[in-house]
Amino acid sequence: MSSVPVFTGRHVEQAVSPERAVEAVREAFVAHARGEWTMPPKVYVTNYPAGDFRAMPALGGGHALLKWVTSFPGNPQRGLPTVTGVVLLSDAQTGQLRAVLDAAAVTALRTGAAAVLAAETLGRHDAATAAVVGAGVNGRAAARTFLARGRTVSLWDVDEERAQRVAAELGAHVAPSLEQALAADLLVTVTPGHDVVLGEGSLRPGQHVSLMGADGPGKAEVAGPELARARLFCDDWEQASHGGELAHAVEEGLVTRDDVTALGDVLAGAAVGRADASEVTAFDSTGLAIQDLAIALAALESAEDLSGLARLEL
Ligand SMILES: NC(=O)c1ccc[n+]([C@@H]2O[C@H](COP(=O)([O-])OP(=O)(O)OC[C@H]3O[C@@H](n4cnc5c(N)ncnc54)[C@H](O)[C@@H]3O)[C@@H](O)[C@H]2O)c1
Repeated sequence: MSSVPVFTGRHVEQAVSPERAVEAVREAFVAHARGEWTMPPKVYVTNYPAGDFRAMPALGGGHALLKWVTSFPGNPQRGLPTVTGVVLLSDAQTGQLRAVLDAAAVTALRTGAAAVLAAETLGRHDAATAAVVGAGVNGRAAARTFLARGRTVSLWDVDEERAQRVAAELGAHVAPSLEQALAADLLVTVTPGHDVVLGEGSLRPGQHVSLMGADGPGKAEVAGPELARARLFCDDWEQASHGGELAHAVEEGLVTRDDVTALGDVLAGAAVGRADASEVTAFDSTGLAIQDLAIALAALESAEDLSGLARLEL
């Protein structure tokens, strides 16, 4: 019989700090760029308009992972979270299950980490201001990660009360207006992607934007021509060009594969990041299973230090 630790959302947050998450996600991007960690394409099981399920596998660090996770955009109106599910972590040599983790907490940690990692890698060295637009579960995680990295951060959300609440909880502040939030040197957008947040002419020279919200078909946070003006980076071309922010710009013929660099290649030293201080850089994130694997492995490292961790006897 094996005894498998079960990490609730609280346990995941206790086990992995935002700083640790940034380092773990950085290592995952590099290992993936070098071909050491692998990731079959994620599978969408759709039940639109209600929502979809995603099966996201990865292999690396001596382990295999499967994240079974949802996106049900109408859930907040029902008092339910948009994203729920579990992460299963197994030993890659024996196939034995090693951990079960709450998928929403793993997702938020790695999404916040990727947003800030991209901003720090591609933003100007003298970037002074940071902002997060969309203060939901994953926007909160991005803001928390900026703060953990020693930056002040302003938040903006269509739901002003939510922005106030999250800002007070984290020690951030609310941007006086959307325009002021959008002008930050390091900008992260984490909205549902139903409405374009960055219209034509909105990005400023020297700015970086991490576009986190448009992670599925039909979603967009930025107008196509505006996206095409930027130096483009993504987490994974296949995912980003089919279901990410880049998909609509690719469909409109504004962007081709040669225009887009993988963040992992920049982090591994195989590609150039920002070329000069006046460039606009944009990172399109769809979310990768290797990021989840990085967080799950980091959580497992800390399992012994956690109290109240339930165990599944199998
Ligand atoms: N790239 C990734 O790795 C990744 C990971 C997780 C979630 N996501 C995506 O990010 C998006 C947000 O996810 P979440 O879990 O944080 O959702 P959420 O429902 O918890 O939060 C969304 C927030 O955006 C706000 N919002 C809606 N429209 C807005 C607008 N036009 N301007 C500003 N704020 C607006 C809402 O009021 C809400 O606070 C979703 O599309 C989700 O699929 C991407």
